[in-house]
Amino acid sequence: MQTGVKTPEQLQAMRQGGKIMAQIYKELRAYVKPGLNELDINAWVDRKIREYGATPTYKEPDVDFPGVICICVNDELVHSPPTDYDLETGDIVSFDLTITYKGMKTDSAFTMMVGEKPKGAAKHLLDVTEKSLYAGISVVKDGVTTGDIGAAVEKVLKAGKLGIIRNYCGHGIGKKMHMPPNITNYGTPGRGEILKSGDTICIEPMASLGKEANYITDDGWTVAMKDGSLCAHCEHTVLVTNNGYEILTQL
Ligand code: MF3
Ligand code: CO
Ligand code: CO
Repeated sequence: MQTGVKTPEQLQAMRQGGKIMAQIYKELRAYVKPGLNELDINAWVDRKIREYGATPTYKEPDVDFPGVICICVNDELVHSPPTDYDLETGDIVSFDLTITYKGMKTDSAFTMMVGEKPKGAAKHLLDVTEKSLYAGISVVKDGVTTGDIGAAVEKVLKAGKLGIIRNYCGHGIGKKMHMPPNITNYGTPGRGEILKSGDTICIEPMASLGKEANYITDDGWTVAMKDGSLCAHCEHTVLVTNNGYEILTQL
């Protein structure tokens, strides 16, 4: 077992935590509007997490992130702390949240356009990145390898001619936010670590309209695209089962 043996109660806590996450995201999607300040979104999410009986994992001492949620705009890829910025119509914004419920973690991310329906290249980016997440999830079952998942994600991103970010990846999850094994967004079928029923993993494709090169900005956290291109990130926490999978972070 790559991600640690869990009691039925611990697995149930991840299912419940995943539902809380999905409910918060459903409400967040409706709440996001042009003019909304990132710090206000952070406070809103913090309140929601506690209202639903969970706690923000990023505030735990071993993470100690300056926010309860990552908010990345346009060429920001991942790990951006909420700042004093008002979202604008047409911004591409991604949210990445980890919560702790009854001691167990769930982690999920999505990307959307602010204030209007995406079109053209931005729509392509959002659609293909999300499609690659579900392609990765679709191959999950007892005995799948991390290479099988990576290959399935990579195939979709490649077909969409997107930049595939290779220096960040998904991971195991459970009692801790980040556990072995790494779940890369590329791979060779049959290679890598073997996953078993009961394992819980995060699959999280990250892609860009330009090149894959990225850097950490002056704030020491934010990962942004070197060429300034638009990028997207989506993530689910997934349970491996005998015959397939359960997406824990969905309603
Ligand atoms: N939720 C992120 C992940 O998908 C981790 C956040 S790292 C932090 O792995 F620095 F933002 F806390
Ligand atoms: Co995440
Ligand atoms: Co993750």
